[in-house]
Amino acid sequence: MRVGFGCDHSGVDLKNKLIEHLKNKGYDCVDYGTYAPDVPVDYPIKGEEVAQALLKGDVEKAVLICGTGIGISLAANKVPGIRAAVCSEPYSAKMSVEHNDANIIAMGARVVGDELAKTIVDAFFDAEYQGKENERHRRRVGLITEIERKHSR
Ligand code: RB5
Repeated sequence: MRVGFGCDHSGVDLKNKLIEHLKNKGYDCVDYGTYAPDVPVDYPIKGEEVAQALLKGDVEKAVLICGTGIGISLAANKVPGIRAAVCSEPYSAKMSVEHNDANIIAMGARVVGDELAKTIVDAFFDAEYQGKENERHRRRVGLITEIERKHSR
């Protein structure tokens, strides 16, 4: 699977560690930066960039990191078709895929440690969306898409 990575300055170190972790597991990792922890980059820029890459089909899923995971996920979620879930533990990461068909996992580099972050991405990438077999999950994710359409210009 091809996975996109994006972060602001606060997430550079964790992003690099997660890229190494997922590369070792055989994932094809695409790094959209940012690359320098000492040069501030506003998180919405990276959230949008990676979200657009995913929608274009350049990557199938993505990992976004900022200080809390909140800002960068809020930005990504403004792009129609993106379902970015901020997670600080593996259970939510698994459920975000199984029930919500999340296509991006977001984390806070100032919230989770490196080893916990690895268990979170593993739970996210090992999970499968259950909406193919389960009508209620399909319906609920469909309702999210309807809200998106209703409020799009
Ligand atoms: C940057 O200092 C910080 O505000 C940002 O990384 C993030 O936590 C925002 O949600």
